[in-house]
Amino acid sequence: MRKKIIAGNWKMHKTATEALALATEIIQMANDELHNQAHLVLIPPFVHLHSLSKLTAASSRVALGAQNCHHETQGAFTGEVSAAMLAAVPVQYVIVGHSERREYFQETPAQIAQKIDLLLAHHLTPIFCCGESLAVREAGNAYGYVSSQVIDSLFHLSPEAMAQVVIAYEPIWAIGTGKTATSTQAQEMHWHIRQEIAKKYGESLALNLSILYGGSMKPDNAADLLACPDVDGGLVGGASLQSRDFINIAKAVH
Ligand code: 13P
Repeated sequence: MRKKIIAGNWKMHKTATEALALATEIIQMANDELHNQAHLVLIPPFVHLHSLSKLTAASSRVALGAQNCHHETQGAFTGEVSAAMLAAVPVQYVIVGHSERREYFQETPAQIAQKIDLLLAHHLTPIFCCGESLAVREAGNAYGYVSSQVIDSLFHLSPEAMAQVVIAYEPIWAIGTGKTATSTQAQEMHWHIRQEIAKKYGESLALNLSILYGGSMKPDNAADLLACPDVDGGLVGGASLQSRDFINIAKAVH
């Protein structure tokens, strides 16, 4: 049975007070209202990880994640945060290769691969993001493009390491645009990613991997997306900033 995960990527939102309030509300609502098998992950900015870890440590339903880490173990990299630091908080999940980091911070597939290695060495779960731009989709190259992203940053892993990874398919044209992939588009790409992994690592490993969808997931479209056989959860941006919306998305997991 694949793990069903609803992760909230808060991106660069929420002050310390706001972050504590949001996390407290989500944990309370999860305790009171969430009766399915969804695992929640809160992914706030780095500065809130320590204070939120005190809340998530007491919750069996809600884990903590970080939005990024540096690709070197340590050193003179002003402004950066290492995998070891995140493991010590502790967080359980770390996003790697988000399209915003690939685009605005020029992250390369090789750096993303290095980050994944470091995270796995610290027993952290990477949430590896992939997804094509509108131009790539309209040119008919979406499947090949996403395959390359997966191959370039993940296929150096041993089967044991690969089995620890969570994948998030986030079509860039659907992020923050209000334009969601249809459930058919999401299912087709998730199936494609799973087949790609099955070809390299075998059917059984691929069938056990959680593949999340991200891109304008909201309470009113979550049920359709999460009903797809190969969609195992969501990586939610905007709607994760409201406790009610986030919990209602999590309730759509079945
Ligand atoms: P939105 O849900 O705001 O489209 O963001 C998706 C995302 O980028 C999550 O990582």
